[in-house]
Amino acid sequence: MSLKDSQWWRDAVIYQVYPRSYADANGDGVGDIAGIRARLGHLRDLGVDAIWMSPWYPSPMADAGYDVADFRDIDPVFGSLTEAEALIEEAHAAGIRMIVDIVPNHISSEHPWFKAALADPDAKERDYFWFRPGRGENGDEMPTDWRGEFGGTTWTRTPDGSWYLHLFTPEQPDLNWDHPDVRAEFESILRFWFDRGVDGIRIDSAALLLKDPALPEVLEDSPHPFHDLDGVHEVYRSWRRIADSYGGDRALIGEVWMPEVERFANYLRPDELHAAFNFDFLGCAWDPRLMRECVDRTLHAHAAVGAPATWVLSNHDVTRHVTRYGREDTTFSFDNNLDGTPVDLEVGTRRARAAALLSLSLPGATYIYQGEELGLWENENIPPEEFQDPMWGRRGHSRDGCRVPLPWTGDEAPFGFTTATPWLPQPAEWKDRTAQAQTGDPNSMLELYRSAIARRREESFSDFAWLDLDPAVLAFCRGQDFACVVNMSGAPVALPAHQSVLLASGPLDGDRLPPDTAVWLRMTS
Ligand code: NOJ
Repeated sequence: MSLKDSQWWRDAVIYQVYPRSYADANGDGVGDIAGIRARLGHLRDLGVDAIWMSPWYPSPMADAGYDVADFRDIDPVFGSLTEAEALIEEAHAAGIRMIVDIVPNHISSEHPWFKAALADPDAKERDYFWFRPGRGENGDEMPTDWRGEFGGTTWTRTPDGSWYLHLFTPEQPDLNWDHPDVRAEFESILRFWFDRGVDGIRIDSAALLLKDPALPEVLEDSPHPFHDLDGVHEVYRSWRRIADSYGGDRALIGEVWMPEVERFANYLRPDELHAAFNFDFLGCAWDPRLMRECVDRTLHAHAAVGAPATWVLSNHDVTRHVTRYGREDTTFSFDNNLDGTPVDLEVGTRRARAAALLSLSLPGATYIYQGEELGLWENENIPPEEFQDPMWGRRGHSRDGCRVPLPWTGDEAPFGFTTATPWLPQPAEWKDRTAQAQTGDPNSMLELYRSAIARRREESFSDFAWLDLDPAVLAFCRGQDFACVVNMSGAPVALPAHQSVLLASGPLDGDRLPPDTAVWLRMTS
């Protein structure tokens, strides 16, 4: 298999590897690079175009690696830089591109810069962060009342009496992006990974980098002091110049949570990022009208800037969609997890199968979060004392339930993930969801994903247009002879006239499509 060349990110299938939970080769209960290399065949057989690797750098793991102490090395828990280079090479040989995760908003409090800044208030590194005196007579009140992204406060006092800013945990001090050294450092980090052959960069918390130095409070009718400041675009223009200097096939993909689609699209102007995650789609309810509006909004916003849309159902931060779609409230929110809401996993799984066909045939790139292809659900039964997520305790939400190690083989935990105790417990019911159990079973989620990705590769999808069927049915064509039909109503619906069914997410009822089922059709042209 050879790598497709130009603009591959426009219609790629990109698989997120969360390295702690993919596969453990050294028997410590935590996934590692050797495990990924040993199970690269799974991704080759699945047919994905690229891997997005969540952070694998040296880190105290205060936020599962999103607290980076050194961007130019690999944490020993995952392996070494040499192994990372070998993985990049092996992935390329298997026809799979590599995207690494860069976290520019903050670094670890164990990073040498922050240690130097703490050790000496006159150190030049002090200006790489947001150190400020406190308010009040004794300076013992925080400089602002900003609420943290994980809930809680955003300032921590240092022994010398000043405070430093952290939008996430205290172990993740925010960098000062007004400082040229910070900009230069990240440009050099991008080059470091591009020089090692990576094909793309995923940019964490991409809209948060710049802060208003006057540090105003967050007020409803005033410009936000740290979210989506205009100056951030200059950073991405300079990053784009670097990406382009590598011949035009390196992509920048932003994590941009933004309800206003026009402002979201600003990040995707032709001289900025190549793509950004579609959280609008991820959070959307299983509802035909809302879904259709979301697809329209997405396509419209992206067309305005000439960027490809992305279709994302799950990731390492959100409740797995088998679980979301099995609840009464099918939207995603950080506040509706672990609240004891009943989940119908059968319904959730049926909808997740239909969503696979939907997300793999809409125009743009599709992201798969590891385990989604196995139909995994959120593990809502992790005992709270085993939670590792720093969000738990601050916001009453734990993201651990979606980060549970993958089940590969066998009938019992740890299902071939490790020879030790996995770092988070796996549900015993996953014995039917192992890659081994599903391989060769035509009704399994894994075989559905394999067939859909293979078919997507064969089809030459072209122009998107809605087909007008029942309003509770989402149906669209991609060119003259291909259609996707998703029944989101509670009753079977008649299929439109077609030549053949290419793929179905579940059994059909004669020529009728049962509820929560999707099909790909060859239309009569
Ligand atoms: C977004 C990442 O996806 C999440 O896992 C992390 O906790 C925050 N950014 C902070 O880096």
